[in-house]
Amino acid sequence: MRQSSNELKQRAYNRIHDLKAIVARDSYRLHYHIMPPVGLLNDPNGFVFYKGQYHMFYQWNPFQTEHGSKFWGHVISDDLVHWQDAGIALAPDQNYDKNGCYSGSAIVFQEKLYVFYTGNVKNERGNRETYQCLAISEDGIHFEKKGPVIHVPSGYTPHFRDPKVFEKDGQWYMVLGAQTEDETGEVVVYTSLDLENWRFQGTLAGSGHHGLSDFGYMWECPDLFKLDGKDILIVCPQGLEAQGFAFNNIFQSGYFAGNVDYEKVSFHHGAFEELDRGFDFYAPQTTTDASGRRILVGWMGNAQENDSVQPTIKKEWIHALTLPRELEWKNGKLVQHPVAELQILRQDEIRHADVIVTNKGMALPRVNGQVFELEIAISKLEAPNFSIMIGEKNSFHYDAVAQVCTFQRGEFSGIGVESRHCELESLQYIRMFKDSSSIEIFVNNGEEVFTSRVFDNPDTGEIRFIAKGGHVKMDVRKWNIKRVTEY
Ligand code: FRU
Repeated sequence: MRQSSNELKQRAYNRIHDLKAIVARDSYRLHYHIMPPVGLLNDPNGFVFYKGQYHMFYQWNPFQTEHGSKFWGHVISDDLVHWQDAGIALAPDQNYDKNGCYSGSAIVFQEKLYVFYTGNVKNERGNRETYQCLAISEDGIHFEKKGPVIHVPSGYTPHFRDPKVFEKDGQWYMVLGAQTEDETGEVVVYTSLDLENWRFQGTLAGSGHHGLSDFGYMWECPDLFKLDGKDILIVCPQGLEAQGFAFNNIFQSGYFAGNVDYEKVSFHHGAFEELDRGFDFYAPQTTTDASGRRILVGWMGNAQENDSVQPTIKKEWIHALTLPRELEWKNGKLVQHPVAELQILRQDEIRHADVIVTNKGMALPRVNGQVFELEIAISKLEAPNFSIMIGEKNSFHYDAVAQVCTFQRGEFSGIGVESRHCELESLQYIRMFKDSSSIEIFVNNGEEVFTSRVFDNPDTGEIRFIAKGGHVKMDVRKWNIKRVTEY
């Protein structure tokens, strides 16, 4: 039997209360990333700047550290750095969303917050039903559900979800992730004048369009925006095979850049580029704020099989969101910069100038720890290999001969050592954000990013530098990072 909304929410709050002490004892709890109070978190949802504050919602299963009937958790921030819990925004309590209030987005209209999400239903015969739903809030906290506004059109399967809504030239647009009946992934477009009545306009991009073929059986979580004159479509295709260094995670997350013709609903675009090279990055979502910046946050996870062996499960929680990153279109590429506000968290600055790293390897005084920001500016790289060993198990390498960058994640729970790579012509600059169980490495000012969860021995925090077969000259700055997470 369906539970009443209040009962369902109360059960979730009780679970937070009952497990609080267990969760808090986990040394892998993060210090400055958004994470669930308990249970499983996945996609960021409804990221929006509303009445002077940033609102972030997230896919949340409060009852298990597995996927299930998702709620929308909610946190609010004045500065993208300090986030306050705002309780449950949406619970799966209606016939049209009883198996999950799936991913979606938010927009501001006439001082109100409108959220669009996918109602996921498994019917009596075990089949999936899908509805694109609207909920409205006058205070940014309490939402009134208005029910479905879009049903799956003919030609598509119920894998039809993740509405992202935006305004352009006085009209509302929605992009959706879709699967055609012949099982190819697409992004489709709807338009509306009143946010309640929506018209199907056609396919914007997908397998079989604009020179793309065999490009996945389903596309999830689209986001479409203009940045420095380019139209960027972020999307997450499922079903791509690994090709060398590319597409090594189970599902991919990347973008197409080009020009959208909104009249004809067509998109001339270049190749699909991955947004991140690490193990844990998926389903990102962007928004703009009062300053006009385009800010992206992703799920610091993926649908990997290793979920079940992540050590935080024993402490009743799993997954987190990435740091917010400002996007820039530069030299034909989307680059990512950790938002400037993160500098508020810096403390205990350490500087070492003109350090020469050699074959012998070295550690630097007070450059160590588990939770820190590290900045390395390389002025000379005269070695075939340069490596940074981070703690006991993780490392970052640059092979200057092959021109390849590698992040290596140490063994946890029987998985073995794993690596991810990307090509890089030259290494000049590294900014690394390490949290108690995560690492985000921004290479050459965000030209490449490696995002991963890491589960190292919490008592070790040594950082060592080695330049095999030569030497490297660098300036190093390191800061401890203040703990700002609430639970
Ligand atoms: C992406 C995704 C979305 C869906 C949500 C469900 O990770 O599968 O397509 O809306 O997660 O939690």
